[in-house]
Amino acid sequence: MRGSRGAPTPHRHGGVRCQTIGSTVSEPTVTVELKTIVELCKTRGIIFPTAEIYGGVRSTWDYGPLGVELKENVKRQWWRTMVQLRDDVVGMEQAILGPTEVWQASGHLANFSDPLVECASCHQRFREDHLRETQLGGERVEGTLTCPACGKQELGDPKNFNLMFKTNMGPIESSGSTVWMRPETAQGMFVNFPIVQRTSRKKPPFGIAQMGKSFRNEITPGNFVFRTREFEQMEMEYFVEPGTDEDWHQYWIDARMDWYADLGIRRENLRIREHEDDELSHYAKRTVDVEYYFPDASMGWSELEGLANRTDFDLKAHQEASGQDLTYFDQVAGERYHPYVIEPAAGATRATLAFLFDAYRVEEAPDAKGEMQSRTVLKLDPRLSPYKVAVLPLSKKDTLTPAAKEVFDIVKQRWMCEYDETQSIGRRYRRQDEIGTPYCVTVDFDSLEDRAVTVRDRDTMSQDRVAIDRLESYLIERLPGC
Ligand code: GAP
Repeated sequence: MRGSRGAPTPHRHGGVRCQTIGSTVSEPTVTVELKTIVELCKTRGIIFPTAEIYGGVRSTWDYGPLGVELKENVKRQWWRTMVQLRDDVVGMEQAILGPTEVWQASGHLANFSDPLVECASCHQRFREDHLRETQLGGERVEGTLTCPACGKQELGDPKNFNLMFKTNMGPIESSGSTVWMRPETAQGMFVNFPIVQRTSRKKPPFGIAQMGKSFRNEITPGNFVFRTREFEQMEMEYFVEPGTDEDWHQYWIDARMDWYADLGIRRENLRIREHEDDELSHYAKRTVDVEYYFPDASMGWSELEGLANRTDFDLKAHQEASGQDLTYFDQVAGERYHPYVIEPAAGATRATLAFLFDAYRVEEAPDAKGEMQSRTVLKLDPRLSPYKVAVLPLSKKDTLTPAAKEVFDIVKQRWMCEYDETQSIGRRYRRQDEIGTPYCVTVDFDSLEDRAVTVRDRDTMSQDRVAIDRLESYLIERLPGC
């Protein structure tokens, strides 16, 4: 959760209040390096640099066939948990471009900035709070900062740099045509509070959720899709009666930790971190971050999601600026009030990276000849896997094609599946392991006789012979929630 007076830094270890949640608390267990994940994403077409044929755009990434499935699955699971399975949360989608008034009232034009320092020698620019954290151990320690690019101690005084992207709407550029690309999805829920509340007929406690792109002109984007200038968020504003806000805040902190763990992130790699008073955003009464342990040296414990008690700051600010009534009228009590807001704010692109890190394993496993080989396997929860099933005819021979296509036609109705008849079966299994496909279905020459196929489990590598007529129900049982 970004604060307005010096945002929290990506890895804080000492002097902060942290808590790993779970019955057995142990050390983080992720060991893979970021460059390995970046390489896997590139070689398998998951995520790769934007417009690379033109040299790319710094820290801007495109999602390939597998990446878009993975990211959409992360979002789908969030929506399912936060909206579909609840009767107290509804969804919405706001336009990305918004007028100045919204961002003036929300405080973003005045406060949404990071401290920027420029090196007088090499002219590179950095976030001062990040340098302070890495070089002086954070906190408010005095000391001279060193330029990480040229090593000189000639960094200037920090200046506040506003992170919002500005553009113009219509053919004439003037101050009246200025619009802003939203830096968070949250404001959509505040400015639309009355119409969504009225039309959905919800009463506090209730929430409004939204997923989608946000834009921040980050001074130092980096660490792959961890910090980018264009990214996706999954945010929910939960409107509650004042006085019940602290309990609801704790409820959502626990619920969000459970969401990551339920989708496969090991508990020891998650923790919550309480914000210190001097790093709270301008709107927050209390904030905690859900952090994930990214094992890379440049990352460490880093924010996945922020959970803030935003009080009635936003509704009151928009009421004052717009002149519209943003209160809720409680008919039973005969009272009108501004609800307090609890906000779980997650990053879809950042969470996708965390799921990739946590799923990545290298194991020793016997090959077809029984010899031990190392295999890379993405042990993604099947709900997140880009493909749920791969259909693999044993050979490319025409005789197998009709049966294999018949099987593909059955499974593709229900799940994202891949049909692959190239290379040896061993190599195809390895490829599917590497992209996290939970089940491979092999159609062989016996299939023509017994109308059965071999189903291989990604994690155990055990194989079952299953009748084609039973295949769908066999997979439904093993792919719950997919
Ligand atoms: N409405 C509150 C809000 O936007 P935030 O902590 O600034 O809070 C919420 O953002 C989440 O959005 C973060 O926890 C992170 O997962 C994601 N996020 C923020 N800035 C990001 C960036 N530059 N690149 C990728 N994800 C980002």
